[in-house]
Amino acid sequence: MNRLVVIDAAIFVLTAISAAGGSWCYHDSSCDDTTWPTIASGNCNGSRQSPINIVSASARGDATLTTFTFTKYGDITTMKNIKNTGKTVIVELTSGVQITGGALSEAYDSLQFHLHWGNGTSVPGSEHTVDGTRYPMELHIVNAKSSHNGNTTTAVTDGTGLAALGFFIEAIPGNVTGSPAAWKTLTSYLANITLKDEYVNITHAISLDELLEGVDRTKYYRYHGSLTTPNCNEAVVWTVFKDPIKVSQDLIDIFSTTVRIEHNSTSDLMTNIFRNIQTVNGWVVTTQPSSTTALPVSGASTTSSSLGIVALACMLLTV
Ligand SMILES: *[C@@H]1O[C@H](CO)[C@@H](O)[C@H](O)[C@H]1NC(C)=O
Ligand SMILES: *[C@@H]1O[C@H](CO)[C@@H](O)[C@H](O)[C@H]1NC(C)=O
Ligand SMILES: *[C@@H]1O[C@H](CO)[C@@H](O)[C@H](O)[C@H]1NC(C)=O
Ligand SMILES: *[C@@H]1O[C@H](CO)[C@@H](O)[C@H](O)[C@H]1NC(C)=O
Ligand SMILES: *[C@@H]1O[C@H](CO)[C@@H](O)[C@H](O)[C@H]1NC(C)=O
Ligand SMILES: *[C@@H]1O[C@H](CO)[C@@H](O)[C@H](O)[C@H]1NC(C)=O
Ligand SMILES: *[C@@H]1O[C@H](CO)[C@@H](O)[C@H](O)[C@H]1NC(C)=O
Ligand SMILES: [Zn+2]
Repeated sequence: MNRLVVIDAAIFVLTAISAAGGSWCYHDSSCDDTTWPTIASGNCNGSRQSPINIVSASARGDATLTTFTFTKYGDITTMKNIKNTGKTVIVELTSGVQITGGALSEAYDSLQFHLHWGNGTSVPGSEHTVDGTRYPMELHIVNAKSSHNGNTTTAVTDGTGLAALGFFIEAIPGNVTGSPAAWKTLTSYLANITLKDEYVNITHAISLDELLEGVDRTKYYRYHGSLTTPNCNEAVVWTVFKDPIKVSQDLIDIFSTTVRIEHNSTSDLMTNIFRNIQTVNGWVVTTQPSSTTALPVSGASTTSSSLGIVALACMLLTV
């Protein structure tokens, strides 16, 4: 029963992101992101909209930005299915995947992840930028506050109802191909979902930790923003990790050359699926304070073991 609730929640969140009382798009001037602020009932004209350009030198030090504990991120059976929504590619997670810590007010359930990209490695398509730099891709893990019990209708009306984890993806230099293995496995599914609304179950053993390999998950930026797709609800605690995930160029290129935006093999390939940078209206981006002394680890008894922390040091709603 719980399982169904979470599944429905994931689908709702996906829908909330991709439906928005009318159609929205990335490419056509009649429905692209310049038109989203006029979508009735939407919040895309709000004052804490995402994504933003993060100015690293202006990020304020905040010692309360502690480490996360990731539950079931090492589990190789949490990815249920992968779907082409016509706007992105989304992987639905099973129930019980969770994040705590990271200065979040309570546990958040990890519902799904999806990606934003440009056009191969040559045209970058991350949503957030750092000091003006756009990365080739960005992975978003969407989490909903556990006390909403999977009800994303109420979660999006709560200013901190959702927590999104953003991970940049950059290309491994040189001629490396098919790396990392988990990304090779994940991208192998794209050939099965070339058309909008197609989905397949994921049958390979693959974990979130494997996809997030190489990222120091204790170093991140934090701000309060929105979904990056209509209805742009201002309900998202954003965590944008500083370290990018490194993926070989051939695998990055598969995204922009395989999946299409309609249920039609002659429709356009899905490229440049990111919202443009939004205005920062005086609110603040925070990060771990730079310091020569180690940060105190408070509440050690409730955090993961040191082994777990070492493991962590190695991670869209389409928000
Ligand atoms: C945003 O748009 C909605 C719907 O059109 C409107 O009701 C609201 O006043 C607008 N908000 C701002 C800040 O312009
Ligand atoms: C993406 O790149 C390919 C290969 O360079 C090019 O043929 C295509 O026109 C580009 N698509 C867009 C939308 O720019
Ligand atoms: C979510 O909460 C709202 C408001 O309390 C309620 O009307 C709705 O039925 C709930 N949805 C689900 C799926 O429980
Ligand atoms: C990459 O491959 C090309 C063509 O096979 C080769 O000419 C080049 O030296 C390789 N570069 C590296 C860094 O291995
Ligand atoms: C995915 O596609 C491959 C070949 O393109 C096919 O062999 C495989 O059976 C498909 N898998 C699913 C689950 O449809
Ligand atoms: C996909 O998984 C669901 C849930 O486990 C199952 O009901 C469904 O039959 C599977 N679909 C296929 C095509 O295997
Ligand atoms: C598929 O797309 C082409 C061109 O985009 C269009 O002419 C055709 O009518 C579409 N077919 C269907 C079944 O939608
Ligand atoms: Zn997203």
